[in-house]
Amino acid sequence: MPRLGSSDLEVHPLALGGNTFGWTSDEAESHAVLDAFVEAGGDFVDTADAYSAWAPGNHGGESETIIGSWLKAGGASRRDAVVIGTKVSQHPDFAGLGAANVAAAADASLARLQTDRIDLYWAHFDDAETPLEETLGAFHALQEAGKVRHVGISNYSADRIREWISIVQREGWAMPVALQPHYNLVKRQPFERELAPLASAHELGVTPYWSLAAGFLTGKYRTRDDIAGQARSSSVEGYFSDEGLAVVAALDEIATAHDASIASVALAWLQHQPTVVAPIASARTLEQLPDLMAASSIRLGADELASLETASAAVPE
Ligand SMILES: NC(=O)c1ccc[n+]([C@@H]2O[C@H](COP(=O)([O-])OP(=O)(O)OC[C@H]3O[C@@H](n4cnc5c(N)ncnc54)[C@H](OP(=O)(O)O)[C@@H]3O)[C@@H](O)[C@H]2O)c1
Repeated sequence: MPRLGSSDLEVHPLALGGNTFGWTSDEAESHAVLDAFVEAGGDFVDTADAYSAWAPGNHGGESETIIGSWLKAGGASRRDAVVIGTKVSQHPDFAGLGAANVAAAADASLARLQTDRIDLYWAHFDDAETPLEETLGAFHALQEAGKVRHVGISNYSADRIREWISIVQREGWAMPVALQPHYNLVKRQPFERELAPLASAHELGVTPYWSLAAGFLTGKYRTRDDIAGQARSSSVEGYFSDEGLAVVAALDEIATAHDASIASVALAWLQHQPTVVAPIASARTLEQLPDLMAASSIRLGADELASLETASAAVPE
C-alpha cells in the first residue's frame, strides 16, 4: 500500500469521500457504503467539519457525526484500521484558521467523530486574515497534545505552501504530509504546473478531490439536460464542454477494452500520476462503490495514457 507523503500512514490507493454522508446519503446508506469500502480493502476516509452545511436543513458536522457513529459501532479495532482525515476553516460556527478557532474546531470534530485523534487534519482553505504562523502554531499544539497525527494542505497557492514549509522548518514543527487539490482529467491546472513540483520536492502525498469531476467523469451526463435537477448540478455544470465530452469518449473506449467502467478508468488515470497517492471519490450508494474500488486493479498502457493525455490537454483551463 502506498505511504502518504512523509507520514507513517499507509493507505489504500482510493480514499472514500465523505461529503455525501448526511447530504445525498442518509445514515444507513452511508454506513453501508463505509462497511463495503472497508470490506473491499479501503481504509482511508476523507471528510470535513463543514460537510454538509450547504444542504438545506444542515448546519455542518453531519458527515463527521455519521462517521463517528460508524466508528463507535465498530469499536477500537475499526478505529485503528482506518485513517480518518477531516478539515477545518469552513464550518459556520468555526470559520477561519485563527488559533483559538482551530483548537475549538478540532475538539468539536473529535467529539462528532467519537474518537481521541484525527489521523490527518487539513487546512481546508487558506485564511488570508490570519497570520500563517498563528495557524501553524495551533496545528503544532494539536500535534503535541496527540489530538492530531499529521497535517495536510488543501486549496492553497504554491506561494502560500512555500511560506508554510519555511515557517515549520524555521520553528522545528512537523512538516505537512499531504496536499488535497482539485485535480482530475478535465481539471489539470494549476495542480500540474504549480503544485505537483512542490509535492515532489517536499514529499507531500497528493489526494485529489473531485476525482470524478462530481460525476461528469462517470459518463452519465452527456447533455446539459442530463444534469438538470441533480443535487450536484452546479458542480457538474462547470465541466461541460465539447473537449470535456471528448475526454469522456476517450475514457469510454479504454473502459470497453478493460471491461471496466468509465469512472474506474478516470480514477485509474489519477492513480497513474506520479505524485498521487490516493484520489478521493464519493459513492452516494452501495451500487456506485465497486467502480471506485476497481480502479486500482487497472493498468493503463502507454497508448491509453497518451490518448487520455491528448484528449485532456485540449480541455480549456
Ligand atoms: N478539499 C476540498 O475543498 C474538497 C472539495 C470537494 C470535495 N472534497 C472531497 O472529495 C470527495 C469527492 O468529491 P465529490 O464527492 O464532491 O466528487 P466526486 O468524487 O468527483 O464525485 C462523486 C459523485 O459521483 C457520482 N458517482 C460516484 N460513483 C459513481 C458511479 N459508479 N456511477 C455513477 N455515478 C457515480 C455520485 O454522485 P451522484 O449523487 O450524482 O450519483 C458521487 O457522489 C468529497 O466527498 C470530499 O471528501 C474536498
